[in-house]
Amino acid sequence: MTVEGSGIKHDDVLPSSIHSTLLSMGPRYNMAIEIAPRNALSQPSLDSMTHAPPAQCMRHTKVPTLAFKNAREVDRYVATVVESLIRKNNSAGLRTVLGLPTGSTPIGVYRELIRLHRDKGLDFSNVVTFNLDEYWPMGKESIHSYRRFMQETFFDHVNIPAENVHIPDGTIPLGDVEAFCEAYEHAIEKAGGIDLQILGIGRTGHIGFNEPGSPPDSRTRMVTLDPVTRQDAASDFFGDENVPLQAMTMGVGTILGARKIVIIALGEHKAPIVRRALEEPISEEVTASFLQTHRDATFAVDLAAASELTAMQTPWLVGAVRWNPPLEKRALIWLSQKLKKPLLKLEARDFVEHRLHDLVRDCGPTEAIRQRVFNDLLGGICTRPAGNERQKIIVFSPHPDDDVISMGGTLWTLNDQGHDVHIAYMTSGNIAVFDHDALRHLDYVREFHTIFGMDTEPAQALCEKLSHAITTKQSGDFDTEEVLNVKTLIRKTEATAAAKTVGVGEEKLHFLELPFYRTGKVSKRPISDEDVAIIARLLREQRPGQIYVAGDLSDPHGTHRVCAQAMIRALEVVKPEGIVPEVWLYRGAWQEYEPHEIERAVPLSPEVMLRKKLAIFKHESQKDKALFPGHDEREFWVRAEERAKKTARIYNDLGLPEYYGLEGFVRLSGQL
Ligand code: F6R
Repeated sequence: MTVEGSGIKHDDVLPSSIHSTLLSMGPRYNMAIEIAPRNALSQPSLDSMTHAPPAQCMRHTKVPTLAFKNAREVDRYVATVVESLIRKNNSAGLRTVLGLPTGSTPIGVYRELIRLHRDKGLDFSNVVTFNLDEYWPMGKESIHSYRRFMQETFFDHVNIPAENVHIPDGTIPLGDVEAFCEAYEHAIEKAGGIDLQILGIGRTGHIGFNEPGSPPDSRTRMVTLDPVTRQDAASDFFGDENVPLQAMTMGVGTILGARKIVIIALGEHKAPIVRRALEEPISEEVTASFLQTHRDATFAVDLAAASELTAMQTPWLVGAVRWNPPLEKRALIWLSQKLKKPLLKLEARDFVEHRLHDLVRDCGPTEAIRQRVFNDLLGGICTRPAGNERQKIIVFSPHPDDDVISMGGTLWTLNDQGHDVHIAYMTSGNIAVFDHDALRHLDYVREFHTIFGMDTEPAQALCEKLSHAITTKQSGDFDTEEVLNVKTLIRKTEATAAAKTVGVGEEKLHFLELPFYRTGKVSKRPISDEDVAIIARLLREQRPGQIYVAGDLSDPHGTHRVCAQAMIRALEVVKPEGIVPEVWLYRGAWQEYEPHEIERAVPLSPEVMLRKKLAIFKHESQKDKALFPGHDEREFWVRAEERAKKTARIYNDLGLPEYYGLEGFVRLSGQL
């Protein structure tokens, strides 16, 4: 069956839950579908996390696109597609040929498939796999090799026979690469072609390592990696200078030869390229756009990765919508910004001329709409974010600097207004400390012992040992536990100094060091009961009236996302004990909430902004150049200042009062 207009075929590999969701949307879902406002992202009520429909079909995309409320749902969907295919083939005595990706995106799918194997008896003994790519040169045992990644992440945990696994070999001498690639193509052919190809998408729009410029008929070959791709891999390699310049990859033509393709995109940092791949014309500049030519390709994305699609940004431009207050707010801000007119100056014909007549019909008259949105924004500006009564407040900071970067002004304000403000640092952030910084601190310890005539020998010996561990480390290798401790200490002392700058004393700081983060690597463990228990214990001890949590859906390594999940679980644990604080979400260093999402805006005066900057400066190890700057080269204090000023400017342009800076927050709603 095909849902009209979507191009999505509901054959037996589409999970029944999604099948029924689509059916419930009506035969012409593209006429009736209700697009969730982006606010749904920023208000992860527990209710919506557990009961919301599993997927929305996006309108106006050139490849069928299913948007799921979070990464976990995407993982489950993709794993179910794989599972259904394998079970169908197994029962017909056929083998299943899978094309597999690496990277951060598919990890959840592999975890889910392992679970299905372990708990539901999913049998992989008749599965053949072909991986998309491998860095070149690359030793098979290297911590960076895709071979090792696949073994550790997937193959070691399921029963795919070793001889059925194919991965490009990064140890092949240059002269033999061409022949190897040809043989790889033959092996795919001999296996009967790929039944199901799973893909991720790079920020350059690459599929496999088919960087911009790769033609649609390209086959398996050696390629040069794009600088953006190398920058994205830099964190895994501890510096982009360690990322190989080349890789072997299946070609675009090889990928398009698969009978079915599911491409996954997770996180806001993928949103711009997802939009280009799905809404712009096919081009070699975005090789994922070639999927528009495939007869059975589907994008499976989370709401964050879908957030720049027209259907999410301006759904009223692509069809009928069911208006609600968040959507009304979004549309009005859009109209005001588009016309460069303050909200209260928008006129009836502005609505009509910009496809908002339905809004006027359903929610009008015009003056009521603009006044409602204006009042909502004005009412959200709040100079006393915790009210007049003294309250206990905990700010949860995923890394040691998110608190001051994202809400340093509010932190100071809360303190200044007499509240009992605590800060809980959820992880040590130790992997983001440069080696040279650790060495400098070791020098300091050595000199300190000498200057004060202390028992220098053990200290000197330890410093020597640690320096040796750092300087003899192979580029991109992990640190030893002891070196990680030094790096943790550096970040801890910086956080303590920064907290003091915004008025929070050392006795009110809680360094939680959640276990999920303690791998010493960029890749982390999934959250465990232990992580949740640590947070729950703090909530029990402190019984805060208000808490602040980083509500990020995507940061470069997913730490914020994991911290937010752990927080939500901890709040569920303590709720029956009567601990139900007011929860406000703030954005981490990477983005601010968009104006239509912001429910509370806290003003910053020039003096408070300066204090916030001084606090950020205390994070010296992250200054000048952060080890993991994300996709923004600006220093954190610059980002923080520009972001707060930009929000203030946006409010002012909408016709609201003019502030020096504003910090934005969203309330966590739903039944806890
Ligand atoms: C990996 C691969 C790449 C990745 C893409 C996204 O085998 O072929 O195309 O899928 O670079 O990477 P992540 O998932 O790390 O964002």
